Amino acid sequence: MSHAALTVDDDILAYLDAHERKSMLRFITCGSVDDGKSTLIGRLLYDTKLIYEDQLKALEADSKRVGTQGDRIDFALLVDGLAAEREQGITIDVAYRFFSTERRKFIVADTPGHEQYTRNMATGASTADLAVILVDARNGVMTQTRRHSFICSLLGIRHIVVAVNKMDLVGYSKETFAAIETEYKKFAAPLGFQSIVCIPISALEGDNITAKSARTRWHKGPALLPYLESVEVASDLEDKPFRMPVQWVARPDHAFRGYAGTIASGEIYPGDEIVVLPSGKRTSVKRIVTADGDLPRGRARQAVTLTLADEIDISRGDVLCAGNSPAEQTDQFAAHILWMHDDQLIPGRQYLLKTANRTLPATVTELKHKINVNTLEHLSGKTLAINEVGVCNVSTSHPIAFDSYAANRTTGAFILIDRRTNATVGAGMIDFSLRRAQNVHWQDLDIDKRARAAAKHQRPCILWFTGLSGSGKSTIANLVEKRLHDLGRHTYTLDGDNVRHGLNKDLGFTDADRVENIRRVAETAKLMVDAGLIVLVSFISPFQSERRMARELVEDGEFLEVYVSTPLAVCEQRDVKGLYAKARRGEIKNFTGIDSGYEAPTHPELTLDTSKVSAEDAAARIVDYLDSNGYLVG
Ligand code: ADX
Repeated sequence: MSHAALTVDDDILAYLDAHERKSMLRFITCGSVDDGKSTLIGRLLYDTKLIYEDQLKALEADSKRVGTQGDRIDFALLVDGLAAEREQGITIDVAYRFFSTERRKFIVADTPGHEQYTRNMATGASTADLAVILVDARNGVMTQTRRHSFICSLLGIRHIVVAVNKMDLVGYSKETFAAIETEYKKFAAPLGFQSIVCIPISALEGDNITAKSARTRWHKGPALLPYLESVEVASDLEDKPFRMPVQWVARPDHAFRGYAGTIASGEIYPGDEIVVLPSGKRTSVKRIVTADGDLPRGRARQAVTLTLADEIDISRGDVLCAGNSPAEQTDQFAAHILWMHDDQLIPGRQYLLKTANRTLPATVTELKHKINVNTLEHLSGKTLAINEVGVCNVSTSHPIAFDSYAANRTTGAFILIDRRTNATVGAGMIDFSLRRAQNVHWQDLDIDKRARAAAKHQRPCILWFTGLSGSGKSTIANLVEKRLHDLGRHTYTLDGDNVRHGLNKDLGFTDADRVENIRRVAETAKLMVDAGLIVLVSFISPFQSERRMARELVEDGEFLEVYVSTPLAVCEQRDVKGLYAKARRGEIKNFTGIDSGYEAPTHPELTLDTSKVSAEDAAARIVDYLDSNGYLVG
């Protein structure tokens, strides 16, 4: 019987204790309301007696009034009632419901089934151990069944229950069920699930939900709830090598220093050897401290504080690993990325990458291919749109400690954050480190930037001109370079139109191509600064994100942003190259200021509007700026 049948005479403490010890199964239900998902969840909550008296009364009344099931209870109303927010237009990412039986506690993640909610489904799936995939017996395996299964496999779910629902509407046909089971298992074979169990059910009639149904005597497998109560899923987390990202260093007094965090995987005993990443230092565990006293053993998902045998330097963000099986480290890896934002993923753009323990700048260096989430086909593409999945190469600013996602869902996962808006824009699963990351090392050279700059008697820097086409960037840059040349300075000008004749000949004017255009020219400018030159860069460079990336590539004070702020109307009226007229006639697409955006700098070192000052005066002001700020020493 359900735990709700407990009476006051029972030993409350014994009950609570038993409840506490019950194992937890986290699962996700995939399917749409049409597949009977709400009815199934409602039925599970009802049958496990998790509905209060008053809720039940209301449900009975509602069922009579608006339900679709005649005199019977319409279970879908219960769940839909709980999810009423959705109808009111409030988007809830994932609804988590809790229920329990005598044998187990459950957290079920309920997400909408449509393709536009793929990212919500991924969120729910990322913490689930098992997925119940609903299939309508009348329709069999559908496109959405494939999509749901793929997302589950991508997010590391290894156990699948295919609940073939509405068996009552196909006369409890053994053949129909068998055909669906065969088709599903064939489709799912490449997805690498550890177990797939198909169960014929009728959520409405209650067949094979809490107990086996007399109407499907041919079904040799279990009913749904008994299966969920007994399936073994969670233990593998403890069998994996020990990993604990350090959340903070606890130093309440001089005598105590502990490292607090949640054990991501594995187990740990006092005396166990550990290795600290990224430093690679080794020591052993002295104590496993918790608020309730020391533990003889720490295991996955527990929050603990470890004290160590040796005083070594460990900070927040380091990962403590099993001594005999540490995580890998890399700054370049292959990953699956699920894009979650309306602004598309652009390779070459810098994002913040957040792992369990660290946040650092990262770039998707290459989108190798996209995966059609409905058919698993590989597609080529330059960007990823919302709800799309791609296989990418990623590069981080510093090495990170990681495991493959297949090996460890905590240390193998990351999210990507937009640097400007701070929005979470993507979720990633690490596949493997790129070999080149291990085989390419920085080569130190004896003659460095300072030596080259000293020989030229100048402080190298980048003068980065940004502004609309026709704003006067190149005209001013040309004048500045002439003056600097006359002053005996060593310079070079990188001009958008010119660089696009060579190095960037392969690039057009889509957002993705402009990002790559700026990335390459920023790297080139950096090399020239390293050579000791004053570099003049004259590109529209319409995005803040890439200008910031260019600024961060060089040292403080080496990047001077010159915003040529001449208004669009003036640029268009000048139309030296006749391009605005063409753009207005629709002959050029993605023209900056017309049908492609320009993000003005917020803190440029200099702002010059050539509708107000002449190009000569603008150039003179820039040279003055360089002079008075010490760039023209010697
Ligand atoms: S950026 O946006 O990627 O920085 P870039 O400075 O290299 O642009 O190139 C801009 C020059 O390309 C313009 O001055 C103009 O002469 C030419 N051009 C051709 N098509 C376009 C377009 N669609 N948008 C902007 N400039 C264009």
